[in-house]
Amino acid sequence: MKEKTQRNGLQTVVVREFEAADKPEIQRIFSEGLMEMVADTAFRGLRHHPESLLLYGAVTVACFAITMCWWMIGLLPIVVLCGRYFCSRRVIHGYLEQAMSRDMGDMEGFYKKFPDSCLWVAVLDNKVVGVVAALGRQKSGVVELHRMSVERTCRRCGVGVALGQKVLEFAVTHGYSSVVLGTTAYMPAAHKLYQRLGFRCVGVTNGYVTPGARRSLMEKVFFRVCHHHYSLNVQNGKIASCGQH
Ligand SMILES: CC(C)(COP(=O)(O)OP(=O)(O)OC[C@H]1O[C@@H](n2cnc3c(N)ncnc32)[C@H](O)[C@@H]1OP(=O)(O)O)[C@@H](O)C(=O)NCCC(=O)NCCS
Repeated sequence: MKEKTQRNGLQTVVVREFEAADKPEIQRIFSEGLMEMVADTAFRGLRHHPESLLLYGAVTVACFAITMCWWMIGLLPIVVLCGRYFCSRRVIHGYLEQAMSRDMGDMEGFYKKFPDSCLWVAVLDNKVVGVVAALGRQKSGVVELHRMSVERTCRRCGVGVALGQKVLEFAVTHGYSSVVLGTTAYMPAAHKLYQRLGFRCVGVTNGYVTPGARRSLMEKVFFRVCHHHYSLNVQNGKIASCGQH
């Protein structure tokens, strides 16, 4: 099945395979979604890494003990936040560049030539508003869902669910046993979406090395993420119903 439609209020979300003309919009939606992770990782991520907070606290106390300057106490948190933002931006930008030099730069080569991979777009009101891709691994019988991103102004309308369901259908029709994905997002949206689709978190890697990271000392100090692994068994050919919007 090439096309899937889902009612979304008065509009209809159409999920179809991408066409060459969609490429600029796909790249924009993907890169904007990815760059949202910069602030997420730098600031929201702080709450999830007590070891980093401990390190920053210890450095602040040590600096104060050495210099006895009160303004150190106020200045160091600003330095830490700037350092975290700068490093998150650099790593995520590196990841984006890597994606653009591979599948997101050559979508035809990666997603049109081989039957075990595919990239879809969600279309709402004749506009491309979302993207997702599937990468099948025949040997392990697993499909990886990745590149999920929805236009900011079209969120919470069921576009993410429609895209996710397309990947699940793909896995079932091609006889795969499960769909897997990984995310380093701390924002609840991605986690809630995958849970809504029926995925279960099967593991968390703390200190995950993001592809494109340089692993410099600065990045080690200011960039730390958890990688959540999600999996959904589709062996019995049944896809959990996510409710209609
Ligand atoms: C994650 C993302 C794809 C969700 O897309 P979406 O079109 O808004 O998702 P849906 O409208 O289909 O939402 C499905 C469910 O997910 C949950 N959800 C989505 N956004 C949410 C949010 N901001 N807060 C809490 N739950 C949220 C809800 O349970 C929602 O169902 P409901 O609206 O009936 O309550 C979108 O927010 C996005 O593109 N984010 C930036 C890029 C990103 O994080 N990609 C994932 C990388 S792994």
